[in-house]
Amino acid sequence: MKVLNFGSLNIDYVYQVPHFVKEGETLASTGLCVFSGGKGLNQSVALARAGAQVFHAGNIGEDGVFLLDELNDAGVNTSLVCVHSDIKTGHAVIQNDPSGNNCILLYGGANQSVTPAQIESVFASFGKDDLLVLQNEINDLLLIIAESKRKGMTLCLNPSPMSENLYPLIPKADYLLLNEVEAAQYLDHADASSLEGGLETGLSEALPQVKIVLTLGENGCVWIHGDEIIRQEAFKANAVDTTAAGDTFTGFFLAGIMDGKPTEEALRYASFAAALAVTRPGASPSIPTKAEVDAGLKHTRP
Ligand code: RIB
Repeated sequence: MKVLNFGSLNIDYVYQVPHFVKEGETLASTGLCVFSGGKGLNQSVALARAGAQVFHAGNIGEDGVFLLDELNDAGVNTSLVCVHSDIKTGHAVIQNDPSGNNCILLYGGANQSVTPAQIESVFASFGKDDLLVLQNEINDLLLIIAESKRKGMTLCLNPSPMSENLYPLIPKADYLLLNEVEAAQYLDHADASSLEGGLETGLSEALPQVKIVLTLGENGCVWIHGDEIIRQEAFKANAVDTTAAGDTFTGFFLAGIMDGKPTEEALRYASFAAALAVTRPGASPSIPTKAEVDAGLKHTRP
């Protein structure tokens, strides 16, 4: 099974701040680092470091060519990434506080320049045995999903950042990986009363056919597929930067499932990888390798 990740590539400007800047406040940061990032790029790196065969499709400007090195070094095929001379690469302004928490402001740039012709050409070499991975940082998801369905591909959707355009697309996913904020937004739209029984019940009732992983930060994660519920606790970690923890989880979970791991084991594998990622600064540079995760898990109990 090949993975096609049609997703964003960002330059991340990460500012160290004593607290997140408030409305009307001018705040001096204590440091700036520049990393490769983007939910798309991070998930491709995580999938590849976890051992999957990954093709990344997307768009960058000439200022972002170094992002290709990060993907290539991880073993991702970048032949489907287009470099444009007239558009700037997408970027993210990230505030990172002393607890390792972050908040992110996105500029779409080249990520928002996907065309129907590009979509047609990207899907030419993929078919029913392949997996499409999508986030919500590029344009034209409707057409991309329609093309993947026409090809009979499996769809994994990470609806992040959540927005209204995704609501009709979410039930089309085979796998849905989302956090509590995204789940609450979706359920509130689908049927506000579905929130009354809690997120797990709401998701299971609203999307009974979808295989869902609800990530809960320090509280671990939950697998929900109809009536089937599996819980995984989070591994303890000294967080310095939580950026890309969710992307690491997504990549390792999907690679684990593709590798034939039972769901419980794939959840544990992905949770451990995410716990390692938060102990390191940056987005894609913080993502561990399969060897690191395998070695660490041998000596750890959740
Ligand atoms: O999930 C983390 C990512 O979100 C960052 O790398 C940033 O680029 C944004 O896309």
